[in-house]
Amino acid sequence: MWVFYNGEIILQDKVSISPFDRGFQFSDGVYEVIKYYPKKFFELEAHIARLKNSLNSLEIPIPSLDNIKQILEELITRNDLENSPANVYIQISRGYQFPRRHNFSPDAKPTFFITVEKFLSREKEKTNGVKVGLEEDIRWHRCDIKSTSLIPNVLSKHRAEENGLSEMIWHRQGNITEGTHSNICFIKKNQLFTPPLSNFILPGITRKVVLTLCSQFDIPVNETEININELKEFDEAMILGTVTEITPVINFEGSDTNLTKPGPICKLLQREYKKLCYE
Ligand SMILES: Cc1ncc(COP(=O)(O)O)c(C=O)c1O
Repeated sequence: MWVFYNGEIILQDKVSISPFDRGFQFSDGVYEVIKYYPKKFFELEAHIARLKNSLNSLEIPIPSLDNIKQILEELITRNDLENSPANVYIQISRGYQFPRRHNFSPDAKPTFFITVEKFLSREKEKTNGVKVGLEEDIRWHRCDIKSTSLIPNVLSKHRAEENGLSEMIWHRQGNITEGTHSNICFIKKNQLFTPPLSNFILPGITRKVVLTLCSQFDIPVNETEININELKEFDEAMILGTVTEITPVINFEGSDTNLTKPGPICKLLQREYKKLCYE
């Protein structure tokens, strides 16, 4: 596989990153996942803007991103992925620093790494819906930064899979925040409900696109706290993400709900989202 590493496109075997890279030692870095739908990078500008925000928040110097589209196009072509949906993974760590110290030097040179891989279809989940679990959100208070420090996400997702669930949805003292790699929204009486943007959730690009679709289709949007005790009130639920796209939720393990199958608003949003991806 061809990858981008610090300014060059090279074969993956040729990449060598020092164990003194702060990405390795402290998870001191940020990332983005962007979807390539033949022939475009979906919402590229929004992803790059979020990447810059994440870098700024961690005081990591922002590398030049002027030619990012050309780099991504080159990676797609070299890896023969022009005609299939693919996931683009971008990671920037603060870079090499020796000796190991918690405090960082302002002149560390960031390590910049990009891969592309074929996207495996999630049609079954999107058509049939998925089961999710609920857990207390024990992450830090800056979940709006797309940091590579993902241990709570890793462990919760692992527990979800061990229990035959597609995703784990988190709550803080009962108020739902988001999933390990997705935002969440609900439908009640033809209105959409989703937790408000804050430092407790990632400002998802899919969430943003879905809210825009709602305004185009006259679906009222309520960005409001949602308590786990209210789950029974909702007619539909969906998890949202670049890889997840719009996936209906048909069961919250251990909770009493009225969700049974993917509902009409979910199907409408899925259809319109797909048009945007492939138009
Ligand atoms: C914690 C978290 N929330 C939400 C999302 C959805 O964000 P996006 O729609 O930008 O992919 C992700 C995506 O990976 C995520 O990791």
